[in-house]
Amino acid sequence: MSKQNMILRPVAEPQVIENAFTEDQHRRLLNVVREAGPYAPILAQHFSSPEEVVASLAGQLPEGVKPSWDMFLTPVFRGYLAKGHTVLHPEIEDCFFNQKFLDLVRGYWGAEYARPENMLFNLQGPCRGGDAAHIDAARFRGISMHTTPVWLMNIMVKSGLFNRWKAKKAQVISWYYKGKIGGGFTYWPDGPQAAPKQIKAPMWGRAVVVENEMMYHTAEATGPSALRHPKGLAFHSKLQADPQSDGWQITTDADVIQQIPAEEMRFLIHWGADIFMDYEELKVSLDHSDDLTHEQVFDIFLADLRARGERFEVPTDPIKDATFVDLLTRVYDPGKPLFYPPEPVEPSLAA
Ligand SMILES: [Fe+2]
Repeated sequence: MSKQNMILRPVAEPQVIENAFTEDQHRRLLNVVREAGPYAPILAQHFSSPEEVVASLAGQLPEGVKPSWDMFLTPVFRGYLAKGHTVLHPEIEDCFFNQKFLDLVRGYWGAEYARPENMLFNLQGPCRGGDAAHIDAARFRGISMHTTPVWLMNIMVKSGLFNRWKAKKAQVISWYYKGKIGGGFTYWPDGPQAAPKQIKAPMWGRAVVVENEMMYHTAEATGPSALRHPKGLAFHSKLQADPQSDGWQITTDADVIQQIPAEEMRFLIHWGADIFMDYEELKVSLDHSDDLTHEQVFDIFLADLRARGERFEVPTDPIKDATFVDLLTRVYDPGKPLFYPPEPVEPSLAA
């Protein structure tokens, strides 16, 4: 088994639970989400051009093909319920400062301490499968999204060279989806070169305790395939609650381009926590006595590349040096997982 396959594995087997939130908590979460829209597509929140999306993918487009939003845009919308340890809606405070979830993630890690960090949600009606699989953005002591590009932090994770500084995290991801086609969660707990596992829908309060920074995962295609790419879907489309029903609607400018009944909506709630194995680890995180610097990051990479026998020119500005970035990707990125589950079966097509 390759080294990369050993690195990209969660600290423990993901743990599936039922009834993640109480009925009352779920009702309040849904109320807050219905009242606080509209929401933008995830893609629109993270990229400003189709070229930027291409740059973040492993494979390049064939020569002469101009990237367009259509190639990547999916009707998955995102909003936030808590950021930076702060809940944005007091009426769901108990969902965020959640003793049950804290017990679960401490148990998952075998850690003494945990602290709720963020809470967000994805909403999607019929939708094609997610990306080819991804890991969530990691953070290191001294190195965060505020100072460092996401691709570099991803390569740092994939190299396994920076574990001493990696911020330990865990998530509880919950789903509420009554649809009959797809909508599950696909994950590779044994590494990208081993077979994936799936948590299948329909699911109502099913959740997984997981370390998504260290495990490839993605969403399964959801709903009838004919409805997965609504006509008129655009970068600036929005999703909001339909004021006339318990369903939802996607709008582009003033036009409603798709109505989504409540039973076809897949509601995912992502709760994330910081983990500290013991008091010593908490202290080092708070007093910054063992933070990484960019110089250290590149010194460690250079030493490892030399030890592997790679021949290269030492870049003057490594973060911006395309040749050096390509070298890091070639050496440390294991690429897409080897095995994928089959597409979900549609009853009408299978008949
Ligand atoms: Fe993710």
